[in-house]
Amino acid sequence: MQDELRTIEEQALKEITGAASSQQLEEIRLKYFGKKGVVTQYSRTLGTLSPEERPLAGKLINNLRGRLEEALENRQQELESLEAAAKFERERLDVELPGRRPRRGHPHPLQLIIDEITMTFLGMGFSVAEGPEVELDFYNFEALNIPPEHPAREMHDSLYITDNMLLRTHTSPVQVRTMEKLYPNPVRIIVPGRVYRRDALDATHSPIFHQIEGLLVDKGVTFGDLKGVLTVFVRKFFGEDRQVRLRPSFFPFTEPSAEVDVSCVCRGEGCRICKNTGWIEILGAGSVHPKVLAMAKYDPEIYSGFAFGMGVERIAMLRYGISDIRQFYENDFRLLSQFH
Ligand code: DAH
Repeated sequence: MQDELRTIEEQALKEITGAASSQQLEEIRLKYFGKKGVVTQYSRTLGTLSPEERPLAGKLINNLRGRLEEALENRQQELESLEAAAKFERERLDVELPGRRPRRGHPHPLQLIIDEITMTFLGMGFSVAEGPEVELDFYNFEALNIPPEHPAREMHDSLYITDNMLLRTHTSPVQVRTMEKLYPNPVRIIVPGRVYRRDALDATHSPIFHQIEGLLVDKGVTFGDLKGVLTVFVRKFFGEDRQVRLRPSFFPFTEPSAEVDVSCVCRGEGCRICKNTGWIEILGAGSVHPKVLAMAKYDPEIYSGFAFGMGVERIAMLRYGISDIRQFYENDFRLLSQFH
């Protein structure tokens, strides 16, 4: 019996020290001490022994049980600390790992153009004015000398909200709104803003786009002042070597009216941008029509002024060499991230 117990003990100790996980160790515990475990079964044979043999055999089994339980306990503790160490290793956090730099936002290319143009005019003493995008027919048309039935209304494919309210088709209504506010003071404003037209989206048209309006009203303002201010703007924005050309045109709210061209980078040699003309149209302008001045109570006999309006997208396309207006609205990061 002693030999048998020694064999069981050796085998059990070998298994216990070889256990690779708490789970395995638990299986070993059951193998020896479970209901049908080796040691448990062995204890049951005690009953078959003679009363003389029983005490010694019982003592031997109890000792064996004690040593094996101690071995199980020791191995359990070893395994627990090994498992804890492994868990720490798995969940290790390198607090000194350099961080990933978060991407910083930056203005949209159209906003860059608006800011740059606005700054140029702020430098000439203009200030920024704004007006509502949902506008009254009165300011969008009538006050600008475009009465109902006037053919110029057809050039503006308007989006009406009610009979007398629409999404503004240009930034020009802010001219009259501001004059009404500032009368009888001189006016010198630049108006960046969003405008709306019933146009289908294609490479050169968008139903929503941006304009920058300019208005200067004071005593003794001439058409020459208009050309002077626009020349300063064009040279600051496009380059000091550029020329400005005014061509006669028509707008109901200016008289006389002009379309303003800037000389092309190709210096008249002819290129795709200027379609071989040497000139690029960039804005509409003119002397403020007497009727428009009178709408805001400025006496046209005393006051005069000039106004101009330009399309931001068009100018941004020229500046950045972008040929499709839709690229401004797609928010493709590959495009946007090129402009800072
Ligand atoms: N409002 C005009 C348009 O949307 C642009 C314009 C032309 C504005 C001449 C002006 C101007 O102030 O003088 O087409």
